[in-house]
Amino acid sequence: MDHFVYKDSELYAEGVPLSRIAREVGTPVYVYGSAAFEGHLLAFDAAFSRVPHLVCYSVKVASNLALLAKVAKLSLGADIVSGGELFRALTAGIPASKIVYSGVGKTAAEMAEALDAGILAFNVESAPELDLLSQIAKDRGRQAPVAFRVNPDVDPGTHPYVATGLKESKFGVPVEEAFALYLRAKDDPNVNPMGMDCHIGSQLTSVTPFADALSRLKALLARLREAGLAISHLDLGGGLGIRYDQETPPSPAEYAQTIVEGLAGEPVTLILEPGRVVAGNAGVLVVSVLYDKLTPERRFLVTDGAMNDLIRPSLYGSHHSIVPVAQTSAEPVKVNVVGPVCESGDFLAKDRLLPPVPAGGLLAVKSAGAYGFTMSSNYNARPRAAEVLVEGDAYRVVRARETRQDLIRGETP
Ligand code: LLP
Repeated sequence: MDHFVYKDSELYAEGVPLSRIAREVGTPVYVYGSAAFEGHLLAFDAAFSRVPHLVCYSVKVASNLALLAKVAKLSLGADIVSGGELFRALTAGIPASKIVYSGVGKTAAEMAEALDAGILAFNVESAPELDLLSQIAKDRGRQAPVAFRVNPDVDPGTHPYVATGLKESKFGVPVEEAFALYLRAKDDPNVNPMGMDCHIGSQLTSVTPFADALSRLKALLARLREAGLAISHLDLGGGLGIRYDQETPPSPAEYAQTIVEGLAGEPVTLILEPGRVVAGNAGVLVVSVLYDKLTPERRFLVTDGAMNDLIRPSLYGSHHSIVPVAQTSAEPVKVNVVGPVCESGDFLAKDRLLPPVPAGGLLAVKSAGAYGFTMSSNYNARPRAAEVLVEGDAYRVVRARETRQDLIRGETP
């Protein structure tokens, strides 16, 4: 679904021209489309309607309270990886009973916080983590609900930085170790090994790795059943890719069909942790052109948006489509779209064909809703961008642009 379309040569987010938002809120600004965000969540949820399931939106992807409140309103859950994300999810009204917690480095304080809140499950990623969780649960007179994150050793065929289910990865535990940990947990009154978890990577454009992972998990489920352990939920993580450029990822329906078929009546509740597929194409980053700079070698469009606002091109070499907010029929020219940050690695696009956009003109960096604002920083003492949510013909600022004072908050000269 693309909810950012031209009307009368002006790029709109739903019923609002992006130029109006840029004029009134300034740039750089992240703009999310409510209909796209909710539509993607609903489509994903509906794809699994044939089986008992819970969709836990992955908070790290786009964690503005206004977006999380939409997740809560739709009675969906959350996938978190820190105490900070727990705080965000709870503040937005997502019930603890629908929150799953992954991550290789949970601290004692974070575990205690999540236990007290009463989350659905800890996705435990190592033996020492199990020991600490057990101790903390005991100290607090609680029993911790546990799913072991199994590393199935499958290649997701994606960027190495976001492949998490290969055996050299820091994530999860190998199948054999997981089996042993389940038996250990079964005899520990402080933990309840009730689930199984796995997340093999992000931006997957084929269903095959998901099917391979699922069949390995099912074999483990069968062994555990024989050993007298009933697992009530299977969490398959996130990972479904989106179209940034020419990719042809499976639709949520195709992805769901593969999983439901692979599950073949296994008596478990499915948990899914989608992120990118929900938020990615529901957001754009709008930037202003500062200079059209010609060097003997290249032509640079220098914008007020930079790697600190959207790091994906610099960090992963990711492609984001960039379009002028005011449509033009001018002949495209080859440019590098760069920001003001003092690094040659600061670019939003390289060797891109774009119609000339004069200084003061606006560009929309598309597919920026996922891992955009949440990965932004204050590098070069740049205040983080504002976030705006569009709902039909109206918009509201859901995160104010940071100020100079925000930049030095908590610091002492
Ligand atoms: N569950 C777990 C445990 C995860 O680690 C992740 C993402 C997700 C769910 C959501 O995955 P998704 O549906 O969005 O693929 N910053 C990178 C992506 C990092 C992915 C981290 N884990 C990027 O910008 O491409």
